[in-house]
Formats: sequence, structure tokens, C-alpha cells
Amino acid sequence: MRMPRSILGRLTIWYACSAFVLILISTIALYRALVNNLDREDQEFTADIVDIVRGHLRDRPLDTRGLQQTIDREWSGRRYAQIFVRVLDPRGHLIAETAGMPATLSSTVFPTPVGTDQSPGPGIELALAEGGRFIAISALAGVGGTDRESGVIQVALGQAHEEALLAEYRRRLWWVLSLALLVCSIVGYGIAKRGVRPLAAITETAGHIRSSTLDRRIHTADLPTEIAWLAETFNAMLAGLEDSFARLSRFSADIAHELRTPVNNLRGEAEVALRQVRTTDEYRSIVESLLEESVRLSRMIDSLLFVARAESPETQISREALDIARELHLVREFYDALAVDAGIVLTVEAADDLVANLDRTLWQRAIGNLIENAVDHTPPGGHATVKASRDGDTLCVQVSDTGCGIPPEHVAHVFDRFHRVEPSRSTRSGRLGLGLALVKSIVALHGGSVEIASEADRGTQVTLRLPLNQPAARPYEESVVRQDDGPVISV
Ligand SMILES: Nc1ncnc2c1ncn2[C@@H]1O[C@H](COP(=O)(O)OP(=O)(O)OP(=O)(O)O)[C@@H](O)[C@H]1O
Ligand SMILES: [Mg+2]
Repeated sequence: MRMPRSILGRLTIWYACSAFVLILISTIALYRALVNNLDREDQEFTADIVDIVRGHLRDRPLDTRGLQQTIDREWSGRRYAQIFVRVLDPRGHLIAETAGMPATLSSTVFPTPVGTDQSPGPGIELALAEGGRFIAISALAGVGGTDRESGVIQVALGQAHEEALLAEYRRRLWWVLSLALLVCSIVGYGIAKRGVRPLAAITETAGHIRSSTLDRRIHTADLPTEIAWLAETFNAMLAGLEDSFARLSRFSADIAHELRTPVNNLRGEAEVALRQVRTTDEYRSIVESLLEESVRLSRMIDSLLFVARAESPETQISREALDIARELHLVREFYDALAVDAGIVLTVEAADDLVANLDRTLWQRAIGNLIENAVDHTPPGGHATVKASRDGDTLCVQVSDTGCGIPPEHVAHVFDRFHRVEPSRSTRSGRLGLGLALVKSIVALHGGSVEIASEADRGTQVTLRLPLNQPAARPYEESVVRQDDGPVISV
């Protein structure tokens, strides 16, 4: 038999079955106790009869008539119990017997008698051919005033009344058990229903949650502990969803906002250009301006696409063994001209034996972004330094500058997309506020972390920590051969 799929059904069945089995076991135990009690009473009763007959034979050994009278008076014609008593002399001749003793209860069907000093015990069970069950016992008794001449007392106790009593008891038990099964099922259903009610409440809340109602939560205060865990997990999931959703909405709004300016610029310039006929030089300058704006737009779209891809769980990176010192010197050579233009000294300090398994393109992009930031925010005469070192199983890369620093209230937000400390100035300078967001995504893709420390007017330090012991797709020698490609330019 298959269990039902619903918890309500299962709980009901389990509860009803276990309660019913308990009731059944106690009922059987009670029934057995009753049967044992009746058997013990029968034993005591037959022992009493034997005692009375033995007493009579001892006290008045020759009074056969008196014995017959005692038997007739005491045990014949009883309403609820059929009792047959027979006394035989040592030679097996009848001395006295209850009137009407069935022929089938002949002296030979009784068991071997127990001694004169013994109680007759439980005896044997006899089922008569004409119907009826009897308990039959035999006991020796001194006949004729001497213990040596032992006669036999035979007692047969009818079981009809007890059987009727037990049959009636069993009949009632069946009724009680059927009723118990019904009550257990109903009570079990009630209890199970109460138990799963909180689940229904959770389902109800979950069923009403839409993207616009992600702030809803399940009240856990009145819930049973196990279900409260479920509800708390569900609430945590909702909080995560709400946060992601809010970030997504903010992100979309930010994108729309950021795209508006360059698109408006493009449109405005195109409209102005078309208002009158212009010289070739004027057209050239307008087209150049349009191109510049378009480049900025496509750079932004590239960066956004990259961040979106980097945050997707399926994104794979292709690691290869990189000689960090060599890589950093290549990057420095690439940015040297930029640094010289800005009047800044760009230096690289890296141990020669540092080899890490990283995605080369992404790594260059991250370091390039940090160097650009350092150069952008450091006044002429300042320094920008890139240091790489090993810290156990971690590669630490620190890009520091002696620039203007970041105001404390902005430090926590500089890794957010589109966050710029001075938006107007940065926008004019073509900065998008996506560089550090990209760095953060790249570091996360490598299983590392990034932190920033900054002091106003003293400089900024960005530290990347990347695990060194990640397996590479390509061995070091092979990757060295490919390094002539030169560094990839950052966004
Ligand atoms: N080394 C630094 N010194 C001072 N301020 C910094 C430094 N690095 C970043 N910032 C501040 O953090 C903000 C965010 O930096 P991020 O690199 O994300 O964007 P961005 O440089 O403005 O634009 P993008 O890198 O996309 O061209 C910058 O606008 C800048 O104000
Ligand atoms: Mg930047």
C-alpha cells in the first residue's frame, strides 16, 4: 500500500495507526488478565471442593450417605456453574456422585490424581462429544479412616458460563476497538490539520507575493519551531530577492540616466548640424564629436555587459599561469606615457618568483583600471605604486597613490556601479563610475577579495587578494610564449 502524498494524509494515518495499536495492545493485555483471573478462580474453586470432600472423608469416613448429601446440597443444580463431583474407593468403586453426571464424564477420562497432601492444580480440559467444555481434576483422599487406603475425588467444572462471559466481553471489545479506530482517525485528522495549518499560511503568503510585494514577510512568532525555520529561510530568500530586485531597478534607472546624456548630446549635435548647410571642415568636426560620444557610449555598454556577465553564475574564466612581475612591468610600460603626461611617477615592485593562475585579460583590465584611477586622482609630482607580494596562499596586489583621496562617506560606495565622487567633473572627463565595479567583479570571478583604504589629501590604497593555488588551464611555459600580445587596454 502506498502512503498518500499529502502530509495531512500521512500524519492522520500515522496518528490513527499508532493510537489504535496502543489501544489494541492494552485491550489484548486486559483480556488475557481476565482469562487468567477466571482460570485462577476455577483452580481455587476446585481446590476448595477437594478440601471439603477430603475433610468429610477424614472426619466421617464411614458416613457415605452424609457425603452424598453434602455433594447434592453444595454443588448440584447450580445456576451459573455446572459442578460434578465423584468419589471412588481405592478399588475404583463409586462411593458418591453428583446426580446427573454425564456418562461421557466417566472416571477414566479424569487425569491421574495428585497426592493427599497436594492441591489438585489446574487439571485438564475436557471437551464432551455432546457439547460443553469442562476442567477436570483428580485428587487422592483417605477413604475408610486411613490414609493408606486412598480413594479418588474427581471434580469436573463446566466452562459454559465463563465462555459466554468471555464471548460477550470479546463482542464488546470489537465494538470498542471499531469505535477507537474511528475516533483515532478523526482526532488524528484534527491534530494533523492543526499541525499543517502554518504551512497553509506560508503557502497563502507565498501565493500572494509578486515583484511589487517583495517586502511581504511571514510572521514567525506564532509558528512551531520547525516551521518557523522554514518561514525564516523563506523570509531570508525574500529579503535577498527584494534586495536584488531593488538593485536591478536602481541599475536600470542608472543606465537610463547615464545613457540619456550621451544620446541627447548625439541628437542635439546632429540636429544643430542639420539646421544649415556647413563647410566640409565643420561637418568633419561634428562627425568627430559624434564619433567621440559614440565611443563613450559603446565603452559604457561594453562595461555594463561585462559586469552583467561577470555576475552571472555560469561565467567561466580561463586561468593561465602568469609571471606577475613580468605582467606588471608590461602594464607599467603601457601606462607610462599616461603617467608622464600627468606628471606622475609610476613604479612597480614585485618579487620575481610570483606565479599565479589568473585570467590574463581580466587581470590586466583590473590592474589597468586601478592605475587609471590613481593617475586620474593624483596631482602632478605625485606617485602611483603597484606592489605585488605573496601572503601564504594568496597573491596580494596593492595599487597606491599619493593623490586627493576619497571622502570617507564615499569609500563604502565606490565599488557600486556608476558611483562617482564628483559626478559632473567625472562625466565631463569621460569617466563612467564603472571601473571599480569591474575590478570587484573580476576579483570575485577569481575567488578573491578587494578592499580600499583612503585618506583625504594623502592618497588611496586598493588591495586585491587572489588565491594562488587555483589550477590553470594552460601551463606557465605555454602562457609565456603567448605574452607578446601586450596588455589589453582597460575600459
Ligand atoms: N585612487 C583614487 N583616488 C581618489 N578617488 C578615487 C580613486 N579611485 C577611485 N576614486 C573615486 O571613486 C569613484 C569610482 O571609481 P571608478 O573607477 O569606479 O569610476 P571612474 O574612475 O569614475 O570611472 P571609470 O573607471 O568607469 O572610467 C571615482 O569617481 C573616484 O571619485
Ligand atoms: Mg576608474
